[in-house]
Amino acid sequence: METTTNYIGQPTSRVDGRAKVTGEAKYAAEFHKEGLTYGVVVSSAIAKGKIIQIDTKAALNLPGVLQVFTHENRPGLAWSDKSYQDEDAPPGAPFRPLYDEKILFGQQPIALVVADTFELARYGASLVKVSYETETPVTEVKNRKAEAYTPKEYKSAKPSPRGDAQQGLAESALKMEAEYFHSSEHHNPMEMHATTVMVEEDETLTVYDKTQGVQNSQKYISKIFGLSKDQAHVISPFVGGAFGSGLRPQYQLFLAVMAALELKRSVRVMLTRQQMFSFGHRPATLQQVVLGTNPQGSLQAVVHEGFSETSQFEEYTENLVNWSAMLYKCDNVQLAHKLIKIDAYTPLDMRAPGGVTGMFALECAMDELAYKLNIDPLELRYINYSDIDQSQDHPFSSKELKECYRQGAEKFGWSKRNPQPRSMREGNTLIGYGMATGAWEIKQQKASAKALLMADGKLKVSSATADIGTGTYTIMTQIAAETLGLPLADVTFLLGDSSLPESPLEGGSWTAASVGSAVKAACEGIQEKLIAYIRKLEDSPLAGVHRLEEVTFADGKISLKNNPDRFTTLTEVMQQAGQNFVEASVTTTPELKQKKYSMFTHSAVFVEVRVDEDFGTVQVSRVVSAIAGGRVINPKTARNQILGGIVWGIGMALEEESVMDSNYGRFINHDLAEYHVPVSADIQDLEVIFVEEHDDIVNPLGVKGLGEIGIVGTAAAIANAVYHATGKRVRDLPITLDKLL
Ligand code: MOS
Repeated sequence: METTTNYIGQPTSRVDGRAKVTGEAKYAAEFHKEGLTYGVVVSSAIAKGKIIQIDTKAALNLPGVLQVFTHENRPGLAWSDKSYQDEDAPPGAPFRPLYDEKILFGQQPIALVVADTFELARYGASLVKVSYETETPVTEVKNRKAEAYTPKEYKSAKPSPRGDAQQGLAESALKMEAEYFHSSEHHNPMEMHATTVMVEEDETLTVYDKTQGVQNSQKYISKIFGLSKDQAHVISPFVGGAFGSGLRPQYQLFLAVMAALELKRSVRVMLTRQQMFSFGHRPATLQQVVLGTNPQGSLQAVVHEGFSETSQFEEYTENLVNWSAMLYKCDNVQLAHKLIKIDAYTPLDMRAPGGVTGMFALECAMDELAYKLNIDPLELRYINYSDIDQSQDHPFSSKELKECYRQGAEKFGWSKRNPQPRSMREGNTLIGYGMATGAWEIKQQKASAKALLMADGKLKVSSATADIGTGTYTIMTQIAAETLGLPLADVTFLLGDSSLPESPLEGGSWTAASVGSAVKAACEGIQEKLIAYIRKLEDSPLAGVHRLEEVTFADGKISLKNNPDRFTTLTEVMQQAGQNFVEASVTTTPELKQKKYSMFTHSAVFVEVRVDEDFGTVQVSRVVSAIAGGRVINPKTARNQILGGIVWGIGMALEEESVMDSNYGRFINHDLAEYHVPVSADIQDLEVIFVEEHDDIVNPLGVKGLGEIGIVGTAAAIANAVYHATGKRVRDLPITLDKLL
């Protein structure tokens, strides 16, 4: 039946769009209050060693400078490693700012200058004189495989091999072996990390933080500073990009709260773009892949070993090699993921952590194998297609990957590809076609939501999640409005406030599934309550109705399923029952039946590149990304997510590289002039296809989550297209022009 309130699946424009484009939406560093002070961070000039002396006199002598905090005068706090743990902390001892004189990584924060104005604080910071005892930092990853070790614990998945890969290789007719590398990449969201701490009249703190988890930030500062939940309230209504950079509390949060508590003044600390390079990077990763097949191209053995960097104090791992155990059919799989310690800050999750990296290696290796076998790269994927997840011996809850291949290839025109490398050109421009598969694991998390329906028919739904630009506000509003059959305009979704119902970190592509399920369930809780009232109402148009199954919530009405002319409204029920409001709070957890299935989103990425034969410059002229991601709640915001992922994949393939100066232990290209990200001129024709995929295992909404899948596979498809265009196999990202000449 046609209704006006079927919002799920509609390309609804962002409900927060107007606020965002008019500047009404406020970010962490934009909250203001009379008497606000400003903290500027002084960063270490060395990467390893210790501070011998830190002279703050000149800064302190400036009128208007309130304090300079260093390890020498910072307050005594709960400095245990445990108090510093956060929801996303890897095993180890987290970094504690201003703890002591030791320097553990380049640009480590060593002082905070707080002043009445930002300019004064910045000037004061320039006057802080530091002398160091310098040790030589070790920052190399590439040539230190011998020092790599197996961590005791893996954050997500422990590599789980099967069969006998060495035997499989020995019996293979054909072998392909290669080593892939990509350097560190840094998070560069538009909004730099910032925290504004307001000291309220009752001395409680209101903390505006840039974060993907307000409750994570709140628990973190509560533990460290010994504050109760009521003493520190964390708010983050808008986030100017994050994708992993806001999963862990960063040091500006600690410094701002410390200064506010010590000075009893409101304080803002915002990092500079340069300081964004002091934390938050995808780890440099070296990967060895060996594939063995029979003459027909069926995989007989897969060996995937990864080596990635971590800091001296935490063991950061990501799900790097396990994709090679599930993506294709193969009985013999050997996996390893080892760590190499360097003198840098701990790596941090970056969009599709591990997946984008691991599948870059696997999908380039598959491409190389296809050429060796003289089989079309897409055909090779069909030959090795797996209907079950062999790594867990589970069926997939749904897997429309074949449809991604089919629709993607058709839209792209894959059949027009001349299989010969360097065979397609227009004048001096070499043209190449490449493809790759992508996958990302779905993990629904426990989440809570509250729905509150007022007598005027307005609905407020809330959960302490975040909207990092992904469209959370919009899709949650759609889910709530459709469930209760209310006009979109009557529904408000609240997030980014630590006092709201408990929510997991906004990450892992799980928000739509996790918080979405909670929102749906909370609205169903309201339905139940309204039916309970109707049951008792003798003069309701729906008198005699007992069960939810008998009615429909749509078009602002509650109507009888088998006789839509008999209906009431939500407000009428409340009025008749004498209720000013109805509310329902619900916590949802993954359903048990999920345990028997593997749950993934899949993608097929097709890329055309144009390479200037003389200059080696690469342009990604066309991308078709076909996604199987379950039910799409909002094709507009969903497409947005995939486009963003593709753009970042272009950055990964061609531009992004944090260059470590091994003498100083410092990333030297620490600004956007030298750390290149794609700009508009780099983005040409991007096409997104959502393949229809029904899944009633993942959750009642059938939603999988789309935040990360768009970047997975993109870099591999580009590298494969570059090979097809040029005949040059670059196994070391980014593919800069020097590597093609
Ligand atoms: Mo994502 S890297 O979990 O924001």
